[in-house]
Amino acid sequence: MHFLQLSYKITTGRRVATLAMTMMSIVLLFACTAKKNEGTDRGSSSSAVEKGKALYNTKCTVCHNPDPSKPGAVGPEIAASSIELIRLKTRENKYPQGYTPKRQTLAMTAMPELSEEDVKALHEYLNSQ
Ligand code: HEC
Repeated sequence: MHFLQLSYKITTGRRVATLAMTMMSIVLLFACTAKKNEGTDRGSSSSAVEKGKALYNTKCTVCHNPDPSKPGAVGPEIAASSIELIRLKTRENKYPQGYTPKRQTLAMTAMPELSEEDVKALHEYLNSQ
């Protein structure tokens, strides 16, 4: 076989291999992203969960545990709290009627600056584990 022909064959071969690798990486990347969403989703928007997590980490973990299912330094565990409880306790520092508080202290301060969307995001996050 002529040298030029041979080198042409090698280069095209490499190109095909590179293309195949790139395609495989893309497919893999998509597969991983899809899996990740499956894990956090559970029927609700995963972006709300992410937003709630960010809010929780900046506004709540001073007192509550970074893992909301465990008691924190000051605040109790609050994973799986209802939206009414989260809304009332964060915005007005009150409890829903007939609710028995986990702690009798009144050490938490109200955060009336939280919007209804923030409350929903916190609820999504606290109920996502
Ligand atoms: C300054 C400390 C502090 C911060 C910040 C704080 N908490 Fe609390 N939280 C507490 C304490 C302490 C309690 C127990 C009741 C009390 O003393 O008010 C509590 C109770 C709660 C309860 C009621 C638990 C139950 O079932 O009785 C919820 C819900 C709650 N916090 C949510 C939040 C959320 C959501 C945030 C962030 C947006 C937050 N807290 C920020 C200290 C805090």
